[in-house]
Amino acid sequence: MEKDMKILAIESSCDETSAAVVVNGRDVLSNIISSQIDIHEKFGGVVPEVASRKHIEAISAVVEEALQEANTIMEEIDAIAVTYGPGLVGALLVGIQYAKSLAYATNKPLIGVNHIEGHICANFIEHKDLKPPFVCLIVSGGHTFIVHMKDYGDFEVLGQTRDDAAGEAFDKIARAIGLGYPGGPKVDKISKEGNAEAIKFPRAKFDGDTLDFSFSGVKSAVLNYINQAKMKEEKIVEADIAASFQNAVVGVLVDNAMKACKMKKVDKIVIAGGVASNSCLRETLTKEGKKRGIEVLFPAPILCTDNAAMIGSAAYFEYKKGNIADLTLNAIPNLKLGER
Ligand code: KG4
Ligand code: ZN
Repeated sequence: MEKDMKILAIESSCDETSAAVVVNGRDVLSNIISSQIDIHEKFGGVVPEVASRKHIEAISAVVEEALQEANTIMEEIDAIAVTYGPGLVGALLVGIQYAKSLAYATNKPLIGVNHIEGHICANFIEHKDLKPPFVCLIVSGGHTFIVHMKDYGDFEVLGQTRDDAAGEAFDKIARAIGLGYPGGPKVDKISKEGNAEAIKFPRAKFDGDTLDFSFSGVKSAVLNYINQAKMKEEKIVEADIAASFQNAVVGVLVDNAMKACKMKKVDKIVIAGGVASNSCLRETLTKEGKKRGIEVLFPAPILCTDNAAMIGSAAYFEYKKGNIADLTLNAIPNLKLGER
């Protein structure tokens, strides 16, 4: 039997400082997340400079807590993993420098992880028997991708957004209707009281059989709707706007996800990223999947948003493929999926 591999993982690509201890890419011994949401809420979005500073303040304590909660010590850790992109450069650098120093001081292997690959791997933690191939819909604050995961670490991008990410659209609409930051969970909640058919917002469609997305049209349509209503001094029903917007976005995501399964002859779809915790997306995808004999899987909400456990999972599969970094590892803010 192979020896267990215990990885200490660090994530600092945006506004969460997180550290986790994960065994064999599947079992989470700890997953500490220190969120900066309260700080950025005041500004209506993430302020990169502030994010970097807060990561510096939090990182030592977060790593310490991750080891303690896992009931382990550095000597028992087999490798150190860190997100090196995509993300905010200053924020990424805090995690990278910390991980590099630790790897150097303890003489342990260093593994650089792609943040988006991490989101996908959150599903390996949640579903212990999940194996590729499958289709994955990644919907976060910064990214929207639909990929065919053929094997561990082997992706084919089938479609992506041509403008805003799905989560970004949720955040902007939430701000426009006065719900604050981060908007996704708030739109999700208020939508439950609204009529999703009240307003017909546009769903972007492209010619040909591309699976690309566009969310700038629906975002502008919602903003125009609100402005016109204000000009005419008409009452706006926030819950109806939120539910109708969510309906349009989820409709496009689910349509493309189903098309991807058909195209690749795959009967399994997993979702990942912050927006994967959206209740309407989960329900609609499950319902449409059932009709077509497609199994739909998603991680628990805490594994959907940014966390280091997902980085620890992805790191294990990268390590198995021999992808070890050295001390020249640097932040790549626009790192693509599948690139190293
Ligand atoms: O994956 P994530 O934590 O960070 C990025 O890597 O971008 O995703 C954060 C995004 C935010 O835009 C947030 O509004 C959205 O995920 N989000 C949601 C929900 N929960 C988080 N969007 C829709 N419905 C939700 N329940
Ligand atoms: Zn993320």
